[in-house]
Amino acid sequence: MNIDIGIESKKREEIAQGLSRVLADTYTLYLKTHNFHWNVTGPMFQTLHLMFETHYNELALAVDLVAERIRALGFPAPGTYKQFTALSAIEEEDGVPKALDMVRKLVDAHETVARTAREVFRIADEVSDQPTCDLLTQRMQVHEKTAWMLRSLLE
Ligand SMILES: [Fe+2]
Repeated sequence: MNIDIGIESKKREEIAQGLSRVLADTYTLYLKTHNFHWNVTGPMFQTLHLMFETHYNELALAVDLVAERIRALGFPAPGTYKQFTALSAIEEEDGVPKALDMVRKLVDAHETVARTAREVFRIADEVSDQPTCDLLTQRMQVHEKTAWMLRSLLE
């Protein structure tokens, strides 16, 4: 059946492509955070191990909301590592960074998702796609707040 929600299909496609980048960024950040939860060492172990766990649990729930918005707009959601690698602006990790380097890398990654989400917001806002705008606003809030909390550990 045709989708008739008041957003022309070309625009729906553009938004779905943008959301696919948000999904890929979020999934890559999820994996990076879980990786760091496993591999962090040093005097801040307990704090960071638990903090990273809180963060990756939130990210694991968030990817579902983004993917399902893509589906509601009528397009397939990317769901393979190959697609995520191609779509994400976040670089994957080689090796095991020191604890504070992990924190720096996570600040960068959270800021990257916030920038991608903000870019896609503009496209969604132009065509009054409020549900996407609402979702992206919430994602920007989470990523900007988390970046601030992580940044605070570095001062
Ligand atoms: Fe664990």
